[in-house]
Amino acid sequence: MQTAHTKEELRSLLAPHRGSRIVLVPTMGALHAGHASLLTQARELAGETGTVVASVFLNPVQFDNAGDLATYPKTPMQDLETCDKCGVDIVFMPSADTMYCSDRSITMEETHLSTVLCGASRPGHFAGVCLVVNKLFNLVQPTDAIFGKKDYQQLAILRRMVRDLDMPITLHGAEIVREDDGLALSSRNVRLTPEHRAAAPAIRRSLLAAGKAYGEGASIADICSQVRAELESIPGVRCDYVELVDAVTLHEVTAPHRLALLAVAAWFGDVRLIDNIELSRS
Ligand code: PAF
Repeated sequence: MQTAHTKEELRSLLAPHRGSRIVLVPTMGALHAGHASLLTQARELAGETGTVVASVFLNPVQFDNAGDLATYPKTPMQDLETCDKCGVDIVFMPSADTMYCSDRSITMEETHLSTVLCGASRPGHFAGVCLVVNKLFNLVQPTDAIFGKKDYQQLAILRRMVRDLDMPITLHGAEIVREDDGLALSSRNVRLTPEHRAAAPAIRRSLLAAGKAYGEGASIADICSQVRAELESIPGVRCDYVELVDAVTLHEVTAPHRLALLAVAAWFGDVRLIDNIELSRS
């Protein structure tokens, strides 16, 4: 495995691989089993002749909350080990100064899918994600990129970016990896108090129950208020949103037969957790 810290190093490490399938997995580090699964899928997709590139970059531009950025876990040495074990060929680990010019003045804004769910409560977040992913796409020039479905809205927005800007890249959505008790893996889980860690699997349980109710024809309003009530019955838990939306447009479900998404963001103390479930009605 090779590591690049600058854009020039990355370009020269990639030069011999141009023309082969290049699969990119962008991450912000603090890699856990969910990321390992993305990296392993990237290795499978690239095969023996292709190239797997992982980026490890804690992108300051996508944080709307300075405290969240400051407390975001950083484990660079373990991240390199994880990448190596998962068969990554090249790791790109730039500093913020390397990545961004101090007088940068171009922004990237998606204006429809970003206005709801996490976009409504985290102003500027998805513009920061689109900017950094766009830069990574330009630097790596991958044929494929893999993103987890836990950040479902992020994946939908990036799909829109690739479509609207004619980027010649195939995006792959990877299933959510969970703890045995159902909690979706997240770099933020380590910051939960023991009580909140024990209570957090309620998110998955309430989403599964909601999925069943949706299949049985329950109303969207009832489904969302049931999930909210269940989560907010836990001391110190407050829902940011519980919404059932169209899985592609992320707006109101207008055609019941289309794939829907039930998405939740909830504060467990000062840790914001998200999760979701795809739902269909026959
Ligand atoms: O999902 C993430 O970890 C980040 O938003 C991403 C895609 C690596 C961009 O910084």
